[in-house]
Amino acid sequence: MLTELTSAPSRPASASSPALSVIIPTFNEVRNVPILVARLGEALKAIEWEVIFVDDDSPDGTAEAVRQIARTNPRVRCIRRIGRRGLAGACIEGMLSSSARAVAIMDGDLQHDEKLLPAMLGKIEAGADLAIGSRFVEGGSSEQGFSRVRQRGSAAATMLAQRLFGVTLSDPMSGFFMIDRAAFEKLAPKLSTRGFKILLDILASSRGSLKVVELPFVFGARQHGESKLDNMVVLEYLGLLLAKLSGDRISIRFILFALVGATGLAVHLLALHQALAFSVPFNWAQTIAAFTAMTWNFFLNNQLTYRDKRLKGVAMVVGLVTFYLVCSVGTVANVGVATWVYGAQPLWWLAGTAGAIMGVVFNYAASSALTWRDA
Ligand code: GDD
Ligand code: MN
Repeated sequence: MLTELTSAPSRPASASSPALSVIIPTFNEVRNVPILVARLGEALKAIEWEVIFVDDDSPDGTAEAVRQIARTNPRVRCIRRIGRRGLAGACIEGMLSSSARAVAIMDGDLQHDEKLLPAMLGKIEAGADLAIGSRFVEGGSSEQGFSRVRQRGSAAATMLAQRLFGVTLSDPMSGFFMIDRAAFEKLAPKLSTRGFKILLDILASSRGSLKVVELPFVFGARQHGESKLDNMVVLEYLGLLLAKLSGDRISIRFILFALVGATGLAVHLLALHQALAFSVPFNWAQTIAAFTAMTWNFFLNNQLTYRDKRLKGVAMVVGLVTFYLVCSVGTVANVGVATWVYGAQPLWWLAGTAGAIMGVVFNYAASSALTWRDA
């Protein structure tokens, strides 16, 4: 009796690890989830597969919708990430959570054609490290899925990547690809969790060591919900390019912080000019300008640089006050260093630059420890 019970197969034969894990990052895609799972089932009939949704705690209940399907479909899993945001980070985490020999990244909004997956898997099994769904090789297209502006922006971003990294691929910006597990595990520690451009990051970090194939597909129109790619994502992309160009010696976060600082200088000068035009005395005009610039920098950093740790409500007010404090001390450090350099070498531009660098580095270090510290 007992032997009968224990020897009975407790699980179906599919209990071995699947050949393919499809990773789907989601944010507010509740209506697309059931459709996508059904389409995957249809497209992957001949394959042992699983799908892992990585959801950043979407307010629309995407994670719950996934779990509901998972209760009756063991191919479906859900990772719910709390207090974090970011497409690239979600993809990396999903890929690391599986042990399949091939992992695919695919959007959750039905813009990617799941029917391409078997062909991609065929390429990986035949020895490719990376199979990319390309909108720009013969037979692919992006016209349905993109507005005119997005098409132009995407073309510009692609050209930049091709020039800067010598990438010869037609679509390094694609969000649809499959990678060999061993190749991915080797690269994973080098990848940035920020922004949208995980494929470009993989290509740039691998420095040409991967065997890559491109397969055409038609980028479809979004069915439900809306795109999360906004201006901030575009700036993050520029940050990623610069970070990769520095060989990862400079972090994207620092680059974004410095960029924001540069816009703050412009805001400062503009505010100073305005205040003086209203015949405010100079020292007061300078004070007003400094606060305007600090406030600007705070909000822009909160939107962009620390997008993944964005402060809201009371925490935001407290953050603003600590940011004022940090910047005030930073200014003292800035002036101190500039004066010291000027004393040693009376070149105004050298002393000014040294002071500014000191200020930015100090503000960056202090504000990431105080204002946007890890919870
Ligand atoms: N977990 C998580 N966290 N998922 C996210 C986040 C996030 O912060 N932001 C977006 N997503 C999910 C969306 O729910 C969707 O499933 C997928 O990532 C793609 O997001 P979209 O907002 O639909 O992006 P898109 O259509 O504008 O851009 C797509 O095409 C680009 C081609 O230029 C993406 O595939 C990009 O990666 C691709 O570069
Ligand atoms: Mn989309």
